[in-house]
This record gives sequence, structure tokens and C-alpha cells, in this order.
Amino acid sequence: MCGIIGYIGEKNANEITLKGLKKLEYRGYDSFGFANLTSKINIYKDIGKVSQIKNIDLPKSNISIAHTRWATHGGVKKENSHPHQSNNKEIALTHNGIIENYQEIKKELIKNDYFFKSETDSEIIPVYIEYLIKKEKIVFFEALKKTLKKIKGNYAITIIYKNEKKIFFAKKGSPLIIGIGKNENFISSDMNAFLECTNKIICLDDNEYGFIEENSFSIYDLNTNKKKNKKINLIKNDTLKNKEIIKENKKIKNIKTNNNNNNNNNNNEKNNEKNNEKNNEKKIKEIIEKIKNKIDFKQNYNNHYMLKEIFEQANTIDYAINQNIKKITKIINKIKKTNDIFLIGCGTSYNCCLYASYLFREILNKQTTPIIASEFENYLPLITNKSLIIAVSQSGETIDVLEAIKKSKEKKATIFSIVNTNFSTLTRISDENIMMNSGVEICVLSTKSYTSQIAIFLLLIYSLKYNYNNAIKKIKKISNKIPLILENNFEKLKEIADLIKEKNDLFLIGRNSLYPIALEGALKIKEVSYIHAEGFAGGELKHGTIALIENKTPVIILSSKKNRELTLSNAIEIKSRGGYIIGFDYINNEIFDNFIEIPNIDEDNSILMIIPLQILSYFLAINRGCDPDKPRNLAKSVTVI
Ligand code: AGP
Repeated sequence: MCGIIGYIGEKNANEITLKGLKKLEYRGYDSFGFANLTSKINIYKDIGKVSQIKNIDLPKSNISIAHTRWATHGGVKKENSHPHQSNNKEIALTHNGIIENYQEIKKELIKNDYFFKSETDSEIIPVYIEYLIKKEKIVFFEALKKTLKKIKGNYAITIIYKNEKKIFFAKKGSPLIIGIGKNENFISSDMNAFLECTNKIICLDDNEYGFIEENSFSIYDLNTNKKKNKKINLIKNDTLKNKEIIKENKKIKNIKTNNNNNNNNNNNEKNNEKNNEKNNEKKIKEIIEKIKNKIDFKQNYNNHYMLKEIFEQANTIDYAINQNIKKITKIINKIKKTNDIFLIGCGTSYNCCLYASYLFREILNKQTTPIIASEFENYLPLITNKSLIIAVSQSGETIDVLEAIKKSKEKKATIFSIVNTNFSTLTRISDENIMMNSGVEICVLSTKSYTSQIAIFLLLIYSLKYNYNNAIKKIKKISNKIPLILENNFEKLKEIADLIKEKNDLFLIGRNSLYPIALEGALKIKEVSYIHAEGFAGGELKHGTIALIENKTPVIILSSKKNRELTLSNAIEIKSRGGYIIGFDYINNEIFDNFIEIPNIDEDNSILMIIPLQILSYFLAINRGCDPDKPRNLAKSVTVI
């Protein structure tokens, strides 16, 4: 999705906004642009990648706004990229979101002899402001306010006006955050764009507008026109936050999470935990070194974030379960008492919700309803003030999730969220948040955020089934196995990717909780290698999909103790039609043409299956010349409907 960064202060605004845009590249985009203010407004914009430019061909300035565009209204063309200007070139704007009534406004402006250079909805905003200033003889800020009341839809906008040393802004439905510096201020759609410069932020809420200057900011409410005092938040880095949670938890003596008295963590357990974490980090480093020696990392794997974030999972799972025990206890008590629980998400986060619904049933015998957020309105009649909604979102800005939560709040439902991005919109509209603590996920694909989301559901479910301490132990058993999976299978996964890279279709089969894993594996493969991968429940094979199995069609079979017999019979049916079987299990089988060994841990090794599937999708992307970090057409966070 589009990215916005603005700077006003004593430094070189061109440099700061260029650096900021590069931090936003991970969100996915197809064009970019800058506007700065000297005695006039200067514009530089183009299609392509920001990373290709060293400096911006604009005069020096202390005020600059910049934008990365992910095309919605109007194709990928230079004239459609932002910033957009008024006809008299005295106003420049960047915009995230969609203006729903832009056609009628555009018609009114054209009737009054105004012209447009782009096909976008955004361009009507600066032109309409110019129109009002001339027609009603009002000042810029008044014209901005009237324009905001005229337009319908979602927006996060920044504007510079030739006659004022300010950056104006307005927010409704799309994220916008102010960064407070010393003799400088920032504004962005994503705090990662300026976190290097300041960790003091103000999160704007819907229907707020105003401006930032070098040493001050003014925020108004569009409905009341009154000036607002907003809280300045301090962003702590994840390490600091993790340390604070561990310190807080140590103060809690007997950890009661489900009426069983837990034996308190004694010292040697605490030492084990610490050693585990250090061991994992050490093991991962050793494995990466081994792998680097075997595979020409330099030539093909130039440090893609996707691979880095896959490897980080041995530790991010542990960070995810490092939660404030009091908060976890409160949340699981609410889960225990509630019968209608809805799990909401999109894409990978939805696949996590579906997987969690299997865990709730299999481990707690508790019914929960997983819902694709964009389908939520079909379930709205079921939502009451007794309902518990658990929203899952890495970015906390996915518009379909936010829309579902806003409608649930109108029904007075309780909202818990599992989120990675602090101070995101979702964290601010939920009753309780469980932060994933995964650190910034740069790759557009969700990898470490997926396993962190699952780990948090396992923490809640195991804490209810057993107790908090045992939950931690069981989940650490999972994270401790990840280095082993990587070490034993990394090269074989590369070989398998070499074998199937030319294929255009690939199928994944899973039963029970392996079915949602098959869906997630298919999503990874399709979104990063553009192979048409389809995951489906093993029992569905003969209900249609088997018609697609041809000679050498690759099929990944996810198998474990619970469903091995039935899954192997699926494999035999596929094999007899010429399919190429890649088995994922902890024991091999002669039906498999290739085999990926998954460590056997207790009743649940299904979540471990996703690690080799992520690696396989990475190698398929590389083999097919795809960018694993920024796949075509995809954005890191879908903030427009
Ligand atoms: C998954 O790899 C994709 N990046 C996408 O499906 C993503 O999971 C989805 O857009 C939801 O994003 P969220 O977790 O930030 O809400």
C-alpha cells in the first residue's frame, strides 16, 4: 500500500524524506514522488523504485513531503504518481486511501474551467482547495477544512502550500502518525519511516486535521473545529519491552491461570529459559554459516529479508510468548467464560485463525468461528455484547479487519487483538492487545509474524488446558526444533525447488490441523513464486481436485501420526495418476518421491511444517527470478478496500 513521509525542520528535508521513503519500500509500490518548498513548490516524481535514486533532483529545502504509490485509481504512470498539484501549482498533496465521490467533484471543477493531469481520485483535493480559495475568498486552512467536509472516503493526506512554512495533514480511515523531534517534526503513514530520528509519536485519529511546523504542531477535530490536545507516546524498542515484561513477570509469585496452582518458575528453570534462547541464537548463527558455505549466498541470496525473517523464527516464537502474565490470565479467563468466540483476519492472519480454531477444538474442545475479515458482514447478526472477537493482524492496519472491529464495537462485543505493530489503529480500538514482539517484518510475505501469532494462540490454549508454565515449556519445545529443521532440510528444499521450478501448478494436502497449514503453504508459494499453488483438505481430493493431477504434477503431502493412514491413501491415489509426491512427516514412506523430515514432538508438530514450506517458497521464488521481499502487485498492508 502507499506510503507517506513529510519533514519540516532545520535539516535537509530532501535527504530525510528520501531516506524515509526507502524505509517504506517494503510496503509495496510502483511509483514515487517528492514535493518541497522554496520560494515555490518543486516536484520530482517517477515510476519505478526509490532504491534506484541516490539523491533527489530538487533545490535544497527544509520542508518536504514524499509518497510511494500502489496504483488503485489510474495505471502505473508518472502523471498518476504523487504529489499532485493545484492548477496554480501553489498546493502539493500526497494521499493514501480512496475518495469515493471524486468523480462528481471532478465534474464540478471541470465545469469551472479547472483541468486535471492524472486519472487519480487524489488530484481533486488540491484543485478543489484552490477553487474554494478563489471562489469564496477564504484562507488556505479554511478551504482545506471545507474540502475535508466535502470529500467522502478514506484518506491520510499531507499538503504543502506555497505561502505557509507548514505541512498540513488530515486523517480518516488510513493511518497517519506525527513524529516529534528537536527543531524538527515528521509525519508518516508508518512510524518506521522516521523512528531512527525520534521515538516520540502522536497517533492521529479519524477526523483529525491540522499542521506541523518546525517547533510545534496543531491538531483540530473536523466535527467540532476545536483544537485537540493529544498524548505524546514513547516508542520502546522490542528488546527493552521484552526485558520489562520478564522483570514484571518475575514479581508475580504463584501464577494462577486456570485454577491450578502453578509451581513457580524456580531459578534453574529461569536459567534454562535464558540458556535456551542463547542456544537458539547460537545454533541459528552456526546453521547460517554452514548453509552459506554450501550455497553461493553471495550470488543468489543477497541477504533477502524473507530468508532472514524465516530464520528469526527460532527466537521470535519465544519473544511472542514472553507476555505479561496478568494480562494473559485476564484474557484466558474471558475466553473460558465466553461461548461465542470469533477469530478474524485476512490472508496469512486468517490462515492462523483457521489453524487456531482447530487447536481450540482439539485441545480444549471449544468451538470458535474463524472468519475472513472481508466476509464478516455475513456474521454480523450473530455478534452480541456477549461475543468475544479476537482480531489477528501483523500490521494492525488491514482495512477489512478494522471495518469488522468497528462494526463489532457497535454491537458492544469485547475485542482482543494479536498485533505486531505498536500504536497501530487496531491496537487503539481494541479492549486488549497481545503484542507479537516479532520486530519489524520487512518482507511483504508474513513468515515470522505467522508463527508468532500461532505461538500466542498456543500460549492461551495451553495455559487454559494445563497452566502458564507448562504452556511456555511446550511452546519452547517447538521453537527449539526449528534450527534442526533448517539444518536437516535446507539443501534438500533447494533441490526440490530446482526439480519443480518449471511447474505452473502445485498442490498441498493436509488433514485436521494440517489443512490450514496446507492453505498457508500454498499462499506462501503462490504469492512469492507466482506458481498456482492450491492447498486443500485431504478428504476433498476425490471431490474434484484429483481431476487436475497429471504426470509429474507436484503434490506436497503433510502427514503426522494422527492422520497418516488416510493421508498416505491420498498419496497412493495421486501417485497412481503420475503425481510427484513430496512427503512432510517425521517418518519416511516408500510412496514419497521426496521427503522432508519434521521432528516429532508430542501431539502437535503441525506448526513446524510451515518452516520448510516457507523455505521452499523462497527457493522457488529465487529459481523463477522473483523478488522474494517485494512480490509483484502485493503490498505489506492492505489499507484500502
Ligand atoms: C501474507 O504473506 C500476506 N502478506 C498477506 O496475506 C497478509 O497476511 C494479509 O494482508 C494480512 O495482513 P495483516 O496481518 O497485516 O493484517
